[in-house]
Amino acid sequence: MKIVVTGGLGFIGSHTVVELQNEGFEVIAIDNLSNSSIEVLDGIERISGKKPIFENIDLREKAAVQNFFKKHSDVSGVIHFAASKAVGESVENPLLYYENNINALVYVLQEMTQLENSNFIFSSSCTVYGQAEVMPITENASVQPAMSPYGNTKQIGEEIITDVAKVTKMNSILLRYFNPIGAHESAEIGELPLGVPQNLVPFITQTAFGLRKELSVYGNDYPTPDGTAIRDYIHVVDLAKAHVIAMQRLLDNKNIDKVETFNLGTGTGSSVLEVIQSFEKVSGEKLNYKIVGRREGDITEAYANTDKANNILGWSAKLSLDESLASAWKWEQKIRS
Ligand code: UD1
Repeated sequence: MKIVVTGGLGFIGSHTVVELQNEGFEVIAIDNLSNSSIEVLDGIERISGKKPIFENIDLREKAAVQNFFKKHSDVSGVIHFAASKAVGESVENPLLYYENNINALVYVLQEMTQLENSNFIFSSSCTVYGQAEVMPITENASVQPAMSPYGNTKQIGEEIITDVAKVTKMNSILLRYFNPIGAHESAEIGELPLGVPQNLVPFITQTAFGLRKELSVYGNDYPTPDGTAIRDYIHVVDLAKAHVIAMQRLLDNKNIDKVETFNLGTGTGSSVLEVIQSFEKVSGEKLNYKIVGRREGDITEAYANTDKANNILGWSAKLSLDESLASAWKWEQKIRS
């Protein structure tokens, strides 16, 4: 069976390509290389022994999307990762985000819904919950007004898919990720942030490697046990495996609703200081960091209730924070060597 992975050379996309290949799927990866590198294809091949079919397509080009699906009308499903994901950039350039994350989604759906096998997995985010009142967060927690154009594109994307599924044969699963980190254990693929990383873990590994002078810890006056903010950090390989399971559920027609939503997290919250401690332990490096003020738009805590994914998908995260950080560190060292 052929599965299309948009954004297939990106961080989560590339790991999902590998897991799909491991399960025997043929993969067509689409990417416009705007935030990824063509060498990722070689990394994938070194792990799985198989290069996916690759199409360099910008999904904002409607005609290119149409041509692609004309050529590949026999695909069994689409996993849609291709999107921009930097919160700060989205505030500065909202139209880039609406074009990249919404126009492209609409064009893909227009073609998808015409296919014989209309199975669609969407990359969503726990950002849709904002600061939820109750921890851990279940899928029933209300969606809060988005705090950035990026977050808004995830909410609007979920709404578009829900509307479309009602009136077409498309079935879809919306996966709300908590904080994906880490890299493949082989260190053949991992996260490749452009410029200065905005996310915690790549900033930590770059600082430990000496590329950044020090990590700024954004705030230690949150109402949490150590005062720093709490997130649910999930290993990217665990996350990738959940996509394969979700796709298999649609392929087997096991879904109960036309659109189903699942949280993907470990279920455990870790504070920024706990992440630093874990990193120092597994790397043996002393991390240079200082406490600074809070980052605008940050929430106090977010961690997942994973019961729904555990019980219905039969999936749970297997890898620990230590393992995730060790893999991120191995990857950082590998790409700098
Ligand atoms: C951010 C986005 C989220 C997006 C996710 C993936 C916000 C508010 N949320 O999540 O919508 O889906 O990235 O790209 O931007 N931290 C530091 N120092 C740093 C960097 C981060 O202390 O240099 C802290 C943050 O304050 C936060 C935690 O580390 O408490 C995690 O930050 P980050 O990795 O950026 O993820 P989120 O902000 O949770």
